[in-house]
Amino acid sequence: MSFMSTFVIEPATPSHLDDLYAIAAAAGVHDHFSPALLHEKLFAAPRPDQFGWRVLAAVANGTIVGFAQGVVRPAARKAWLGLFAVTPTWRRRGVASALLAALRDSWPRDIGEIEALAIPGNYFTPGIDPRYTAGLCFLERTGFERFRDCVNLRAELKADFDTSAEQERLAAAGIEIRRARMDDDALLDAFFEEHFGADWRFEAALALANEPPALHLALRDGRIIAFSAHSGQNREWGFFGPMGTSPAARGHGLGRVLLWRCLNDLRAAGHRSAVIPWVGPIAFYHQWAGCVVERVFWRYRLAP
Ligand SMILES: CC(C)(COP(=O)(O)OP(=O)(O)OC[C@H]1O[C@@H](n2cnc3c(N)ncnc32)[C@H](O)[C@@H]1OP(=O)(O)O)[C@@H](O)C(=O)NCCC(=O)NCCS
Repeated sequence: MSFMSTFVIEPATPSHLDDLYAIAAAAGVHDHFSPALLHEKLFAAPRPDQFGWRVLAAVANGTIVGFAQGVVRPAARKAWLGLFAVTPTWRRRGVASALLAALRDSWPRDIGEIEALAIPGNYFTPGIDPRYTAGLCFLERTGFERFRDCVNLRAELKADFDTSAEQERLAAAGIEIRRARMDDDALLDAFFEEHFGADWRFEAALALANEPPALHLALRDGRIIAFSAHSGQNREWGFFGPMGTSPAARGHGLGRVLLWRCLNDLRAAGHRSAVIPWVGPIAFYHQWAGCVVERVFWRYRLAP
């Protein structure tokens, strides 16, 4: 009898969250997260019109022994292997391989690329922390290739940043800095259509949905010229981003004020530190908020 006959692959649903969390928390020794955060990653399924979300479980004798998340964006011909973990006693028996194979079977044939973990708008980490050595061995054995590194920074939130002098300076130059409002949608649509695209527009919407809105804007002549956001996802980690300044408005100190306002929000919400994920301009964050590199991730992709 082959190992394959000892477990079956089945869809996992939110009703399985306790079992999935037990496996994920035991495997994810370099991460701290609640069941609610895992639920967001696996089952929030944002933008169902564009992304197909699926979690598959390997079940042996009625018990879940592993799971893998798959996300597909058919219009981009791209898919992601999201979180995956196998219970220690079931490792090296083909469980993760079978889960990935079943996910791939569920995707359209013309998928051009599969990336690990870096799912736009709902990611746990922007790549694999190489300390998850078995995970990267599995990816490399499966044909994934490492193509880039990225980092998460940490900001210590010891005291509020004073933004008043900078805001006065900008106001004198005709630039208003303020928190976004629910009726800013049309301005946000125009800004993101011109500058940063639909994925960041979506993340800005997630941030805007917080109370108070976790989105700050710079405006000139009634138009948005820069933004910064936080808490659109992974809220319990004090999650910053994204942020962006339109090219013509760069170099005038908008970014630092907008960054500070978000970090002040996170501090006010009780966070003692913030995560600046998937960076980006390290020197900017280091200079203006004393951020330091906290995590390194390796990005992997599999071309068919
Ligand atoms: C990574 C993980 C999911 C692999 O699950 P698995 O069911 O053991 O994987 P498979 O049995 O399908 O392994 C397939 C191949 O990957 C490679 N591989 C997997 N684990 C390995 C390890 N510990 N060392 C070396 N190679 C490994 C092997 O080539 C293996 O084939 P082989 O056993 O025939 O040599 C599991 O080790 C795990 O849960 N780790 C902790 C969580 C994690 O790192 N998740 C990734 C980040 S979210």
